[in-house]
Amino acid sequence: MKKIPITIPYIDARDQKKVSNAVINGWGDKCFENIKNFELKFKKKYSLKYTSATSSCTGALHLALMALNIKKGDEIILPDTTWVSCANAIKYVGAKPVFVDIKEDTWCINPFEIEKKITKKTRAIMAVHLYGNVCDMESIIKIKKKYKLYLIEDCAESIGAKYKGRSVGSFGDVAVFSFHGTKTMTTGEGGMFACKNKRIWEKYQLLHNMGKNPKEVKYFFLEVVGLKYKISNLQAALGESQLEKIDHVIRMKKKIFNNYKKFLNNKLFQLNRSEKYSTSTYWMTTLSIKNLKLKKNFKERLIKFCFKKNIHLRPFFYPLSSMPMYKSSKKISNQIAYKLSSNSVNLPSGYNLKLKDIKRVCNTIYSFLKKEKIRL
Ligand SMILES: Cc1ncc(COP(=O)(O)O)c(C=O)c1O
Repeated sequence: MKKIPITIPYIDARDQKKVSNAVINGWGDKCFENIKNFELKFKKKYSLKYTSATSSCTGALHLALMALNIKKGDEIILPDTTWVSCANAIKYVGAKPVFVDIKEDTWCINPFEIEKKITKKTRAIMAVHLYGNVCDMESIIKIKKKYKLYLIEDCAESIGAKYKGRSVGSFGDVAVFSFHGTKTMTTGEGGMFACKNKRIWEKYQLLHNMGKNPKEVKYFFLEVVGLKYKISNLQAALGESQLEKIDHVIRMKKKIFNNYKKFLNNKLFQLNRSEKYSTSTYWMTTLSIKNLKLKKNFKERLIKFCFKKNIHLRPFFYPLSSMPMYKSSKKISNQIAYKLSSNSVNLPSGYNLKLKDIKRVCNTIYSFLKKEKIRL
């Protein structure tokens, strides 16, 4: 049986041409040409003010926290359900991640729960748009304003998604994006930092190039301990051509989601759901089994079962607060994050999935449920 991967990037002849051109010509005076173009095109497309391409979204998150001057003793609120980079970046700067439960419908951070966890030490909210879905921005912005906090938007998984017609990434004081090979557009590894405040931008610029002041007076004289999370010109060339077709990829992802919906049309399942005003990109069609007491390790066994049939599913994120490095002695009661983690999986969502592949994935899931004696 043919392997059905979890996802695959859309690479075509235009990408190859663009990268080949950068390989041959992108040196010397032109060594930043594709980077500059990529940052500019990205900024325009998503209505952002300042943009800087990075070597990863994790690096962009680390830089973002440093640019906001987050440090030891500060607390940052983030969803319990997200990729570990979010919490790790907070740790890198010595601050404390405070994990908040997610919403049952959109699987994004629950604004109601945010307010309960705010203390005098809270400096920022990290809003993560999960699996193509969008956070409840209006409620989050209200809280940000009320408590005078920074808002960090993590758009790694939802690039191109919208809230009330506005692109994600344009709401936060800072925003980050990922171009990892599994994402809607890719540069192999890569990311983007965005912000709208000049002071934050200047601080970022100083930090992101080893502490080199862009207005440097003395060549090669450095002022602070900076970081090196720069993207390469070759990767940025790929980013430019990928950006041209991202809307097409999102349309294909939506079609895949709609096809899954046809075959998984059962009261037992919940697939990606959006807030009233938001437009998901369906980066990963995700399946959750509702209202059932499932046997232990259900998710893990489903993934294994499908893997044996050459179908690659991914687990819904384990709550970060359940992981050894983030487990605390205080009991965390993020019930939705824990429940969804036990009964949900990401389905294969590559842009090139055929209808017959989708049918095969769904039939395999149904066979597993039958084996588990779950009545449909
Ligand atoms: C929500 C989220 N944030 C951050 C990252 C980190 O992105 P990168 O792999 O580009 O460092 C990821 C990666 O999967 C992610 O899903």
